[in-house]
Amino acid sequence: MPILVTGVAGFIGYHVSMALLARGEEVLGVDVVNDYYDVSLKEARLSILKKQTGFTFYKVDITDIEGMNEVVAEAGELQRVVHLAAQVGVRNSITNPFDYVWANLVGHLSILEICRNQPNFKHLVYASSSSVYGGNTKLPFSVDDPTDLPVSLYAATKKADELMSHCYGHLYGFPQTGLRFFTVYGPWGRPDMAVYIFCKAIFEGRRFPVFNNGDMKRDFTFIDDIVAGVIASLDNPPTSIDKQVPCRLYNIGNHSSEPLMKMIGLIEEALGKKAKIDFKPMQPGDVKESLADIEEIKTDLDYNPTTPIDIGIPKFVEWFKEYEGGLA
Ligand SMILES: NC(=O)c1ccc[n+]([C@@H]2O[C@H](COP(=O)([O-])OP(=O)(O)OC[C@H]3O[C@@H](n4cnc5c(N)ncnc54)[C@H](O)[C@@H]3O)[C@@H](O)[C@H]2O)c1
Repeated sequence: MPILVTGVAGFIGYHVSMALLARGEEVLGVDVVNDYYDVSLKEARLSILKKQTGFTFYKVDITDIEGMNEVVAEAGELQRVVHLAAQVGVRNSITNPFDYVWANLVGHLSILEICRNQPNFKHLVYASSSSVYGGNTKLPFSVDDPTDLPVSLYAATKKADELMSHCYGHLYGFPQTGLRFFTVYGPWGRPDMAVYIFCKAIFEGRRFPVFNNGDMKRDFTFIDDIVAGVIASLDNPPTSIDKQVPCRLYNIGNHSSEPLMKMIGLIEEALGKKAKIDFKPMQPGDVKESLADIEEIKTDLDYNPTTPIDIGIPKFVEWFKEYEGGLA
């Protein structure tokens, strides 16, 4: 039976799909291929996916419920869904708020409706985000911490997705896992994120801004560790115990909060070039530090991240040189 993966032309969707296909699964990939960042990167990911046995692509907007129902009808029946499609980007959500409400709220509802209408539905795994922790200062961030004070609209939509999922779990009883990803990076990564932005600027010898005067820390998580966590979650749906709602949430991070300046240093080293930095104050919507408490996913699913940034950043830079510069 095929697995529906939404956001398949995106960074995480591409890697999760490749891993599922590699173990012989059939993947129905859906993506609207929006132009929030360079479409050619999405097309390049898709062209690799389309060469794999077992992959079918549908260019559909997940908010188009009729279009989505047609995809599902062609599949016959669905039992597992990995829902990664979203309007991403914390800062962009301040200038383009409607995109977020549409893709992340109506889109999430559309996926919930599809799942609850399947006769033998087994498991929905969907992407939440570490941004739900807002301005929390208690570290590490634990799934039991309060998350009702978001500092960006993006974060508010991700928190709302978790609430909508809980409601559908309560009403219809189907198993769901929400994953709060922490700053994902790696080959085929997103050009709107710091690792890519800094690497490109250093590579091209351009000056670039670093906010909060560089005094920020992130739990950078390598894409292979994220994929391992997504697939371990998918394979182990939560069960309903004592009539509780079969919905759970996990953090997926590396459990290591690394200074931004260390990450920049590793890019400099891998490129053999010095960064030209303009230090700037903190931006609205941003948070100073993130660190994931990953005890629950470790205990339940044996999740164990294996890639520190000292290894992951050079791997990203290697891919970047090949993709952007034809230098690898
Ligand atoms: N990358 C990270 O660090 C990170 C961190 C936290 C959470 N997440 C979440 O993980 C998921 C995947 O993120 P990513 O980094 O791969 O982002 P991405 O932008 O590379 O991928 C998302 C994909 O969804 C597609 N999409 C957007 N709106 C759509 C719609 N209405 N219908 C169909 N497709 C649509 C986009 O075209 C894109 O290809 C997202 O839900 C994101 O919020 C990512």
